[in-house]
Amino acid sequence: MTTEHAPANGTGFAQQAEASAAVWAALLAVRGGAAPAPDPGWSPAERAAWQLYLPLAGAGGRTPFWFGQVGQSLDGRVATVAGDATAVSGQQGLAHLHRCRALADAVIVGVCTALADDPRLTVRLVEGPNPARVIVDPRGRMPNDVAAFADDGARRLVVQACSTRRPRGVEVVALPACEGWIAPAAIRATLAARGLGRVLVEGGGRTLAGFLEAGLLERLHVAIAPLIIGSGPSGLRTAPIARLSDALRPETRVYGLETDVVFDCALAGGSASTSTWPTKTETAAEAVAVRA
Ligand SMILES: NC(=O)c1ccc[n+]([C@@H]2O[C@H](COP(=O)([O-])OP(=O)(O)OC[C@H]3O[C@@H](n4cnc5c(N)ncnc54)[C@H](OP(=O)(O)O)[C@@H]3O)[C@@H](O)[C@H]2O)c1
Repeated sequence: MTTEHAPANGTGFAQQAEASAAVWAALLAVRGGAAPAPDPGWSPAERAAWQLYLPLAGAGGRTPFWFGQVGQSLDGRVATVAGDATAVSGQQGLAHLHRCRALADAVIVGVCTALADDPRLTVRLVEGPNPARVIVDPRGRMPNDVAAFADDGARRLVVQACSTRRPRGVEVVALPACEGWIAPAAIRATLAARGLGRVLVEGGGRTLAGFLEAGLLERLHVAIAPLIIGSGPSGLRTAPIARLSDALRPETRVYGLETDVVFDCALAGGSASTSTWPTKTETAAEAVAVRA
């Protein structure tokens, strides 16, 4: 695991974040290529939402830009042992996930998630475009009638190391595997070459861990809902470490979303504390010029 032992950064106080219609419209405009234009009249909660989502919207044009999102319980679980994963996140946690999808070019999940949950991976709880859907299925275990392959106009891709035939319109990304594992860097580079530069890794824990351990996530959002499941799979299934000094200690900011709390973790050189909000002496335009 790529780790760096740094003093734990203060998380500060959780800021309430409200992605109002105005904030969301401004973020979707940035996603579409517009220069960031925050409204100085927004409330502190609206500013917090802007700050939370702006890096995901593509501000600054940095690409590839990969980010992960985990929706978990207080005890770090994402499902029961029986596989029930339907309502871990609260209502606002789910809306947060859909915002993350809407801001991404593509959303990627591992085959176990596709088999267990059969997710649609579409944007339904907020306004915004559906991202391309990517499933990592190295051995061709996934049937061709999964919901993510439904032909609704969004691009559909499968990353595999086998010759399994896929439905018409599904793009097959064939990559070599070594002992069943496809290099996460190869997946990232291949998707970027196919025009998918801003990618949400939605899970599950093994898929997310693969990209995290390879140092290929710029950001990780951990959305925590106030329930205790007690057992079941965890949202991040990285290799075990013996010493806490080897733990990853990302710089974080914390946001309250009414039903859930989101830890916004900066990884791989990103910085959660880099404010995207103009100070009193900066106009929004100056801030954009400085931070682009
Ligand atoms: N709450 C949330 O945020 C959230 C989100 C998504 C999923 N989930 C939950 O997570 C659980 C599933 O997670 P999981 O960790 O068991 O599985 P997973 O991450 O969904 O899938 C893992 C599998 O995907 C394939 N894979 C992923 N990356 C690969 C790579 N780089 N190279 C080769 N193969 C790769 C492998 O398939 P093979 O096994 O065929 O080798 C691997 O075993 C489910 O309970 C689901 O409900 C929760």
